[in-house]
Amino acid sequence: MDSRTEDATRLFDAFRALREDLSTQIVGQAALVERLLIALLADGHLLVEGAPGLAKTTAIRALAARLEADFARVQFTPDLLPADLTGTEVWRPQDGRFEFQPGPIFHPVLLADEINRAPAKVQSALLEAMGERQVTVGRQTYPLPPLFLVMATQNPIEQEGTFPLPEAQLDRFLMYVRIGYPEAAAETEILRLARDRARAAMHPEPDKHERLPLADVFAARAQVLDLHVAPQLERYLVELVLASRDASRYDQALARRIAWGASPRGSIALERCARARAWLSGRDYVTPDDIRAVAPDVLRHRVLPSYEATAEGWDGERLVGALLDKVPVP
Ligand SMILES: Nc1ncnc2c1ncn2[C@@H]1O[C@H](COP(=O)(O)OP(=O)(O)OP(=O)(O)O)[C@@H](O)[C@H]1O
Ligand SMILES: [Mg+2]
Repeated sequence: MDSRTEDATRLFDAFRALREDLSTQIVGQAALVERLLIALLADGHLLVEGAPGLAKTTAIRALAARLEADFARVQFTPDLLPADLTGTEVWRPQDGRFEFQPGPIFHPVLLADEINRAPAKVQSALLEAMGERQVTVGRQTYPLPPLFLVMATQNPIEQEGTFPLPEAQLDRFLMYVRIGYPEAAAETEILRLARDRARAAMHPEPDKHERLPLADVFAARAQVLDLHVAPQLERYLVELVLASRDASRYDQALARRIAWGASPRGSIALERCARARAWLSGRDYVTPDDIRAVAPDVLRHRVLPSYEATAEGWDGERLVGALLDKVPVP
């Protein structure tokens, strides 16, 4: 075995251990755990929608605790200001100058909780930083850390007094993940876990778990980019995205239901997520299944129904499902 494959095996094992460890802490939400790891490997951000108490906070905290990376959580509220996120210039009388105090956005792993509870100004400060990987305060521009993973959450209930994210800016999220309630067996396991946690909290011990060095995350990302994608799969992926813009080749009614399709950012996201999924499965090539498995989360927020289709109950999710049914799988 040459040193390159040896390193590949070591990294794969490290990520498998990470996934197993997260799955013991976040029970019955395998999709959420996988999406977090895909986002980490594909260098993207997640928007997670789910009812309260479904382990959203627990999941991102657990991931940060297993990485050599600091974590911050920001609760989005109507009175939050962009500076609360980005940081501010503070006057230092002793030095006679302003000094920049970085805000929580400079943490490598960031939870933006209930992102739709803060007004557009704050949302765009975050979305801009996510796109540009830098923050401008005053006349200065500050780069964000090399690892920058945002998980934003949205609660599907209680839409009153919220500020829905602008649909055009949703594109900045690599994936839009919807999570549901766990099954009975998982719920029982969650009870046991909660008891263990409550007991452990009474006798706090230092965390003995190893943290994954960021160099390993970057090395794994490089391997994800080196995976093989067969030309016919690349064509399939592109065809899916093109069909989201104009589906008339496949289905006239479906074409009329779509107002906006996915952008090139959408194709890039689809490719990267499919690669990351293949890598996480220990393969060095992408299968049609990798593309199809990530497509709903990658595309549901990038394919917008027409006005009439919305009235008939179509949303991005259903449109992506229809596209996956229509475009022939290689
Ligand atoms: N699938 C699960 N596995 C393990 N623990 C869980 C699971 N679902 C919920 N819990 C437990 O339920 C509690 C609530 O979880 P958490 O705070 O992460 O939810 P949340 O989705 O962030 O909720 P909110 O939307 O209100 O912020 C925690 O104690 C968490 O450990
Ligand atoms: Mg929470």
